[in-house]
Amino acid sequence: TSHFAVFGHPIAHSLSPRIHAAYARANDIDLEYRAIDAAPEHFKDQLASFHRDGGAGANVTLPLKLQAYGYCTELSAAAQRAGTVNTLRRSAGGWSGHNTDGAGLIRDLTERHSLDLRDRRTLLLGAGGAARGVLWPLLDSGLRELVICNRTAETADRLADSVGDPARVHTRYWDDLAQQGSFDLIINATSAGHGDGAFSLPFSLIGARATCYDLSYGNAARSFIAWARAANAAQALDGLGMLVEQAAESFEFWHGVRPETEAVYAQLRASFL
Ligand code: ATR
Repeated sequence: TSHFAVFGHPIAHSLSPRIHAAYARANDIDLEYRAIDAAPEHFKDQLASFHRDGGAGANVTLPLKLQAYGYCTELSAAAQRAGTVNTLRRSAGGWSGHNTDGAGLIRDLTERHSLDLRDRRTLLLGAGGAARGVLWPLLDSGLRELVICNRTAETADRLADSVGDPARVHTRYWDDLAQQGSFDLIINATSAGHGDGAFSLPFSLIGARATCYDLSYGNAARSFIAWARAANAAQALDGLGMLVEQAAESFEFWHGVRPETEAVYAQLRASFL
């Protein structure tokens, strides 16, 4: 049996153990996957001890993804671009880091929901770790225009500057969103839904065929989804599909097999909304 885990804080409600157990069963792979609660100040030691005990790989979730990046001895191109790591694979000298969040989002959008991203005028809300994690994969998928908008404008400017493609990627002030016309794809990468504030943005952002997508799922996505529905968005999606797809990408990184995701997705969806 090989040993896997997900590290996070809090972690009790993580769906990852369930998802990876299902993928392993379906692919006849013998593994154990558990959830480990790691406060930021203890994460480094806990991860080292997991490595000493023979841990084969791990997922890392909030608020540890940036820290995990710093503990890797090798980094994939996706991890380097994201600046954070959500997947660790045991290597000779330590951990090889990867980030599957962006690929998971793209797969959910383009395959499960059959969106063609190429001609979508896209608004990315937020400029923190989650936004940075999906930025490059979105651009690679051929988006025509990406507007980044963050409550703190400087952070959005820094993120846009890091891309260096001003013709395609630019920023707008949060308070000026009512003057920006409408978008075909609006992605909520803020952590606002984890607090108690209700989401409120101008309805004018929503174009006739707009897809609204929250990277979170469950309660954390509720407020944004409610806003999108109230504004009559063509689609209002939470990040449950992204969760299942990023897990599939991690599974493939560890085991070399891409699991079938639909059954797991349907099961989680049924127990969720
Ligand atoms: P994560 O890893 O989830 O991205 P983060 O790096 O702390 O977490 O980033 C949180 C993001 O959510 C930021 O873009 C933050 O905006 P600020 O840079 O202005 O702080 C955004 N955010 C958090 N609460 C928000 C709220 N109530 N309204 C709008 N944006 C919010």
